[in-house]
Amino acid sequence: MKVTTLQPSQGPTHHSAAPAEQARQLRVASHSHIKGLGLSETGEALTQGSGFIGQAQAREACGVVVDLIRLRKFSGRALLLAGPPGTGKTALAMAISHELGTKVPFRILVASEVYSAEVKKTEVLAENFRRAIGIRVKETKEVFEGELTELTPTEAPNPLSGYGKTISHVVIGLKTVRGTKQLRLDPGVYEAIQKERIVVGDVVYIEANTGAVKRVGRSDAYATEFDLESETYVPLPKGDVHKRKELVQDLNLHDLDAANARPQGGQDIMSVMGQLVKGRRTEVTDKLRAEVNKVVKGYVDQGVAEIVPGVLFIDEVHMLDIECFSYLSRALESPMAPHVIFATNRGLTLVRGTDDITSPHGIPMDLLDRCLIVRTEPYRREEIRKVLEVRAGVEGLAVGTEALDKLADEGSRSSLRYALQLLSPSAILAQLSGRQEITPEDVQETHDLFLDAKRSARGLEDWASESESSGPGGGGAVEIK
Ligand SMILES: Nc1ncnc2c1ncn2[C@@H]1O[C@H](COP(=O)(O)OP(=O)(O)O)[C@@H](O)[C@H]1O
Ligand SMILES: [Mg+2]
Repeated sequence: MKVTTLQPSQGPTHHSAAPAEQARQLRVASHSHIKGLGLSETGEALTQGSGFIGQAQAREACGVVVDLIRLRKFSGRALLLAGPPGTGKTALAMAISHELGTKVPFRILVASEVYSAEVKKTEVLAENFRRAIGIRVKETKEVFEGELTELTPTEAPNPLSGYGKTISHVVIGLKTVRGTKQLRLDPGVYEAIQKERIVVGDVVYIEANTGAVKRVGRSDAYATEFDLESETYVPLPKGDVHKRKELVQDLNLHDLDAANARPQGGQDIMSVMGQLVKGRRTEVTDKLRAEVNKVVKGYVDQGVAEIVPGVLFIDEVHMLDIECFSYLSRALESPMAPHVIFATNRGLTLVRGTDDITSPHGIPMDLLDRCLIVRTEPYRREEIRKVLEVRAGVEGLAVGTEALDKLADEGSRSSLRYALQLLSPSAILAQLSGRQEITPEDVQETHDLFLDAKRSARGLEDWASESESSGPGGGGAVEIK
């Protein structure tokens, strides 16, 4: 059996490290089989497309929303995915993200993440809003690129000491497929070349306006047959030595906020973008955000930058409280608002943070008014079976037909998610008994070992009533209500 490894995060997020961030990646991994909404040219749901099975109406509705987002006609509005647990709400949001492509920022926030001891709730929301707004910065750079054929520093007597020598300039030769060029550059570049340990025969990249030097690798003309060093060989660059390069950087507003809160010197794009706003700061404040907005608007007017409104997905939205909801209503009005997708599995329920306001999905009416609501329906047994099949394929597990039937039965009895969760432990049991394929017995054994929510709750109820009937102190059981 193949031990299933977590898929690398796909698309939406590429950060790592922090626990919240890891949770986000796990979330993505359990949806790794979802590659899109699986719609036809005309927007109809294929029976099985891009890993998505069933839930046709919701998928088609999401397809319309994707079109609206592409046409930039969805800002200030929100999509609400409502339906029972395990009916593919998160999967739909992931599919929307895939449809929009990696260039459109997609930010996932689980509503309970706003309750942090260190940061204000609205701060968490503000940060996530800004992470969902992309900025594409276009820059034309003049660069020199080629294999280094010559490196001759020219020394001159040091005007300050009279004894020592300094480098007055450096002459380098660069070669590409097209031709060669000799350049006379200032001593700063020579220093950078030395720092990067660049020698003749390396392919280098020099930015004309900043003097930044990068070693691309060793020219593959120097590659020998036996090579134990870990060298990267690169082909001789094509085109001329002197090129104009159109560089496109994708950032988001939060990157700019953070960079400006901790400005550093340097020549790379983040340092440059980190000096938009003058003055030293250590914290992202509303004032700083406003200043960043202003500068960005200026760049947009000059045609240097373009704003790419992305998507903010807030899962389990009923966990937000009234304070957060009023923040959201206001934030959605701002001209720089991203597209927002909510998901919830609650029906009519109390709005958190209020004593007596009940509302559909626990969302206040004024916000609900801005939402397009899409329902997800519970799955039929056949659909559950298909999803299991797809998922087993992705995880590289062999499941027999009968075992698949049994898993599907379990799924329709409790939930799709429970059935999916039985897959990996069943595979381990199969492996322990020296089998490659999961059999119905493995499924049964896993089912006996691990309870689903309903059986678990029922078990506790029985236990509580038993310990009650045995009187106070009986068995020393702690009462569970
Ligand atoms: N229609 C579907 N086709 C394929 N996989 C699905 C489908 N619906 C749900 N899944 C998968 O089932 C699991 C549970 O779905 P999820 O989207 O997390 O449910 P929800 O967010 O509604 O509680 C996930 O691993 C998801 O990728
Ligand atoms: Mg979910």
